[in-house]
Order: sequence, then C-alpha cells, then structure tokens
Amino acid sequence: MGRVEGKVALVTGAARGMGASHAVTLAREGADLVIFDCPGELPTVPYGLGTREELDQVAAEVEKLGRRAVVVEGDVRSQADLDRAVETAISEFGRLDQLVANAGIWTLAPSWEMSDDQWQETIDVNLTGTWHSVKAVFPHMRERETGSIVLISSINGIEGLPGAINYCAAKFGVLGVMKTTAMEGGPFNIRCNAILPGFISTPIHKWQGAYDFLAGKPGGTDADRLAAAPYYGVLKGRGPLDPVNVSNAVLYLLSDEAKDVTGIELPIDAGHTALPHFNPAPVQ
Ligand SMILES: NC(=O)c1ccc[n+]([C@@H]2O[C@H](COP(=O)([O-])OP(=O)(O)OC[C@H]3O[C@@H](n4cnc5c(N)ncnc54)[C@H](O)[C@@H]3O)[C@@H](O)[C@H]2O)c1
Repeated sequence: MGRVEGKVALVTGAARGMGASHAVTLAREGADLVIFDCPGELPTVPYGLGTREELDQVAAEVEKLGRRAVVVEGDVRSQADLDRAVETAISEFGRLDQLVANAGIWTLAPSWEMSDDQWQETIDVNLTGTWHSVKAVFPHMRERETGSIVLISSINGIEGLPGAINYCAAKFGVLGVMKTTAMEGGPFNIRCNAILPGFISTPIHKWQGAYDFLAGKPGGTDADRLAAAPYYGVLKGRGPLDPVNVSNAVLYLLSDEAKDVTGIELPIDAGHTALPHFNPAPVQ
C-alpha cells in the first residue's frame, strides 16, 4: 500500500526539476496525476522553461510505475488554464484530492534597476499563480470536505535575497496564501502547508546570470554554482540538494501521515535556517 494510494494529485511546473520529482514520487506511492506546465516563453525570464517533450517524459515515467498521468499544457497566470486542469482531473479520475503548487521562476536584478515588467512577471507567476492554483482546486475540495495542498515557497519566503526583490516578495506572499488557505480550509478538512526549499539542484539556477550571481562576479561558471552550495547549509558534504528530498516532504505533507498538520512552513535546506545571521557585505 503506497502512502498516497488511490489519490489524485495536480502538480504544477511538473515538466522538470522539483515538479517532475514530486510527480514521480507521488506516483511511486500510488497516486494518479494531472501534470501541468509549458507556459511558453516569458519575456523577463533569461532561461528556457519546461517543454512539452519533458512533460511527456514525466508522464511516461509515471505510467512506467503503473499509475496514470494526464498532461495539461498551461500557464499558472491563467485561472482558465488551471480550472481546465481541475476539470480534466474530475473527468479523467472522478475527483482531485491533492495540489502541489510548484511552478515558479527566478530572475535577478538589483531592486533599483529592476523593470516593472520583471517585477510583475515574477509576482504574476510565483504569487498570483499560486493563488490561482488554490482557487482552482478549492471549490471541489470544499464540496468533498477533504483535500491536501502543498505550496512551494522558498527559504527566500522568510529572508531577503539581494538581487531578487521580486522573487522574495512573491515567496513571502506565498506564505500568506498558505496560512489563509489553512484557516479557510480547516472547516472543510482541507489542509494547506508550505515547503521552503534551500539550494536544490534544478535548472532554475543553471544559466549565466545565476552563475555570475553565485560567483559574486561576472564570468561565473557551473563550478561556482557547485562551490557556493555548501555555504547555504550546515550538513557535511552537501552540494545543491537532490530534488527528491523535497519531494519526500511533499509526500509526507500530502499523505494522511500529516492529517493533523496544517498551516506550517517546512524548510528542506540542509540546516540553512540554523545558520547564524550575519552581514556578508558590511559597510565600514
Ligand atoms: N531550485 C531551488 O534551489 C529552489 C529553491 C527554493 C524554491 N524553489 C522553488 O521551487 C519551485 C520549482 O522550481 P525548480 O527549482 O524545480 O525550477 P525549474 O525551473 O527547474 O522548474 C520550474 C518549472 O515551472 C514551470 N513554470 C514556470 N512558470 C510557469 C507558469 N507560468 N506556468 C506553468 N508552469 C510554469 C517551468 O516551465 C518549469 O518546468 C519554484 O517555485 C521555485 O521558485 C526552487
């Protein structure tokens, strides 16, 4: 018996990275899936996003595990796209039990140089897209008086990140969405929790601007990304963390093992939050 045996889950941003890992982990533990991704190009995002081929590959991996995965192409900025994903779950599986609101983007610029478009696009995807995802599933879960929702925030949902004011504002906001949904959902036995990933190995920071950011100078490389990762945690021998460790936390929070858990923020960060706070760039 899997830990989410017979459940139906919607995972956004499922074409690759953590979302793909969440989908496969849930399938391994007995869930059927609606996997949602492929928003097309976003003008302020300087790296490529998930593709239909990747999404189909995730579906194939799920099917190999003996579960079903239905692919829905869409953009979390669009309420209509997410409503269509929920309708698809209901028509294909008869219901939807779980949501993982995982889709997200990361762009970089000092706040005084950031354009309105760059601010807005990240807010629209990471914050509004998360609310849209909750809004799409809530009426169905409310009607059935059961449901479990996990929102993917970030360590940057509880601390600042110079160079990513748009991302931090959105991820702090996700925690507001989580806590409010936990309160509004409680009377209907709908649980809502958030995960705060630390430094996880995914394509989101495999592009030149991210390498430069992590190197602290232009001309950064992937080696700089790998070298930076251990400074984000306290545990021995960790580089960028394996997405499956975040997926295992998603699995726990979605499952009945966490049936008395709602409204929490769970860091998966190799101990980042245990670090003493210090100023890395003091002005003398
Ligand atoms: N990787 C990390 O270190 C890290 C740390 C903290 C939080 N996160 C968060 O984890 C989540 C997953 O990120 P990841 O690291 O796997 O990145 P990723 O770039 O590998 O995957 C993100 C996926 O989301 C999809 N996506 C982006 N915008 C979308 C939209 N508008 N509509 C539908 N799908 C969209 C992309 O196509 C992509 O497949 C994000 O919310 C991210 O902010 C990542």
